[in-house]
Amino acid sequence: MSIKIQTLSGYIHEYQKSILDPEAFWSRVAESFYWRKKWDEVVEFDFTIPDIKWFVNGKLNITENILERHLYTIGDKPAIIWEPNDPSEAHRVITYTDLHQQVCRMSNVLKSLGVEKGDRIIIYMPMVPEAAVAMLACARVGAIHSVVFAGFSANSLADRINDCTAKVVITADGGYRGAKTTPIKSIVDDALTRTESIEKVLVLKRTGDSVNMKPGRDIWWHDAHEGVDDKHKAEEMDAEDMLFILYTSGSTGKPKGVVHSCGGYMIYSQFTFQNVFQYSVGDIFWCTADVGWITGHSYIVYGPLLTGATTLMFEGIPTWPDPSRFWEIVDKHKVNQFYTAPTALRSLQAFGQEPVLKCDLSSLKVLGTVGEPINEEAWHWYHDHVGKGRCPIVDTWWQTETGGILISPIAGITPTKPSYATLPLPGVDPIILDNEGKVLKGNSVEGNLCIKFPWPGMLRTTYGDHKRCYENYFSQFKGYYFTGDGVKRDEDGYYRILGRVDDVINVSGHRMGTAEVENAINEHPRVVESAVVGYPHEVKGQGIYAFVIADMSDRTEANLKREIRAMVNNIIGPIAKPDRIQVVHGLPKTRSGKIMRRILRKIAQGDLSNFGDTSTLLDPNVVEEIIAGKDSALVE
Ligand code: WT7
Repeated sequence: MSIKIQTLSGYIHEYQKSILDPEAFWSRVAESFYWRKKWDEVVEFDFTIPDIKWFVNGKLNITENILERHLYTIGDKPAIIWEPNDPSEAHRVITYTDLHQQVCRMSNVLKSLGVEKGDRIIIYMPMVPEAAVAMLACARVGAIHSVVFAGFSANSLADRINDCTAKVVITADGGYRGAKTTPIKSIVDDALTRTESIEKVLVLKRTGDSVNMKPGRDIWWHDAHEGVDDKHKAEEMDAEDMLFILYTSGSTGKPKGVVHSCGGYMIYSQFTFQNVFQYSVGDIFWCTADVGWITGHSYIVYGPLLTGATTLMFEGIPTWPDPSRFWEIVDKHKVNQFYTAPTALRSLQAFGQEPVLKCDLSSLKVLGTVGEPINEEAWHWYHDHVGKGRCPIVDTWWQTETGGILISPIAGITPTKPSYATLPLPGVDPIILDNEGKVLKGNSVEGNLCIKFPWPGMLRTTYGDHKRCYENYFSQFKGYYFTGDGVKRDEDGYYRILGRVDDVINVSGHRMGTAEVENAINEHPRVVESAVVGYPHEVKGQGIYAFVIADMSDRTEANLKREIRAMVNNIIGPIAKPDRIQVVHGLPKTRSGKIMRRILRKIAQGDLSNFGDTSTLLDPNVVEEIIAGKDSALVE
C-alpha cells in the first residue's frame, strides 16, 4: 500500500521526485486510498491569503478507509489494544470488525442526538478506546471533532466550547491516571455553566463515581447505545471539509483552533506513520501521547488505523504503580515501535536503570521521540537501555499545525545523529530565513524555519478567524509557512531544531503561550502586572518563570505565590502552573513600555553575563533589583 521507502537511496530518489513534481508524488500516495470520487486537481494554493486545497473535489470518508477497507482482509486483526491504568484490570483487544461495529453504532447514536454534518463536537475523555470510537464516529457522520485534553480546566474547556459553538460534549464520569481519579464529568458541568451551545452530553461510565446527570441534557453512553443498529453508511465528505479542530497555544491571545481537513490529513497521517516508523504487517505500535494532543490524533488513531496497524492505547502514566510500567507494557504486548516524549524519558531516567534493565524489551525495533528537543543524555539513555543499542531512534519534528511529521529520520534508513531531526520527509521543502527575510542557502546556517510548498497534512485555517491564521503563520515571511521554530542546518545538511523563536514555551512537550499564563496570573486581584518566560528545566525541558508586580499590603509572599498557582491551575490547568514566581517592584521596559523579555529570559536562565544593550531601558535599576531577588523565586 502507498509508497514505502526501503533504502537510503530510495529515500533520496523519492525526495527529489517529490520536490520536482509534488503533484505527481502526492497523487501516487493518494491513489492507494478509497475515494468515492477522485479529485480534479491535486493541489491549489496561495500562501499569501492563505488558501490551500488538496485533492480538489475529491469525495471520501476517512472512516471507510479505516474500517470498510480493512474489514474483509484484516477484520479479525487487532486494531486497538487497550492497556488500563491499573495493571490488574484486564486489557482489551478491539479487532477491525469490532471497531467497525462500535463506530457504526456510535454514529447512529450521534444521529439520534441530532448531530448533523458540520456540527462541532467536543470530546473530553480519559484514555479509553471509546475516545477513539467517538472521534471516528464524528468523522463518519461528518461532524467536526475537537478533542480537549482532560487535564485542561473547566474554564479552558468552556473557552473551546464557545469558540467553536459545539453542540455535543462526549465525556466520561471520571478518569484514572496513576493513583488519582479525575472528576471529569463535574469539570464538564462546571464548564457548561459558562456556555450556551451544548444540547447534549454523552457520558461514558468508566470509574463508577457518582455524577449529576441533568435531565434532558445528559445521557449515559450505555443507555444511548441500547438497541442501536450497528450498520451505518458513512457520510460523503469533500476532501476539503473540516475533519477536526484542535486548540493550541500561540504567542498571543487565547488558544486558536487549528483546522485539519478530511482528504489531505488522511493521506499525510498515513504516509508519515508508515514510513517514519517503518511499520510492517503484524507489528504492535505504541504512541504514549494522549488523544487530546495532535500526536494522539495522528499516531494513536488516524495514522495507524488507516494503515491497518495495531495501535496500543494506554490509560495511565509512566511512573505508576512504579517506574517500570512502560517497559512492562512493552513486554506484555510485545510492542515493536515505541513513540514517546523526551520529558517522559527524563522523568524515568531519574529512577535509574533498574526499572528498565529488569525488562526484556527484545520485541522493540524502533524508538521515537516527539514534542521537544531531546538532549544528548536522554537520547543515549533511550538508545542504550531501552533500545539496547539495537533500535534506531526517530527524532520527529512537527507541530499541531502540520498534521504529521515533517522532519525526521526514516527508521533504520536515515543515519541518525543525537538531537537532530535529520532530514525532511518526501514532499516537505524546508527553507531557512534570517530575521530580515533573506533566504539562507547552503549548509552550516541558522535561522527561522519556514516551509516553501504546501503538504497535504497542513492546517487550512484557524477556526472562525482566518485572519489569525494568516497573521500567525503566513505574514512574517511572505509566501512561506512560518513554523515559529529556530533551526540549524549543519555541515551535512542535517536539521537541528533549536526551539521557539516566539513567545511560546515548551513545557513537558506541551505548548504554552507566555501571554496566556500572564493573563491567568493577572486575574489575581493583587497582581498589577506580570511577565512570564521559560527557563531550562531538567525534566520538563522548559519550566515556567513568572515575574510579578503585586500589592503585598495584605498578604505574605508565600500566600500570594500559592494563590497565583491555584489561579493558573483553575484558569488553564495544572500544566501551566509556574514553577518559579518572583515578586518584583518593576519590570525591565523600554521607554515605549514594552517589556524586554530577552533580559528576563537571561535572568531566569541564570545567565547574568551579558544583557546586551540596556540603554533603551526606562529604568536600568530594575534589572539589578531583579537579579538581587532571584533566589526568592519559588522552586517546586
Ligand atoms: C512545537 C510544536 C508535534 C507534536 C507535539 C507537539 C516543538 C516538536 C520537536 C522535536 C524539537 C520539537 C517545536 C514545535 N517540537 N517536535 N522533535 N524537536 N522540537 O506539538 O504542541 O504543536 O508543538 O514543539 O518547537 O514548534 P505542538
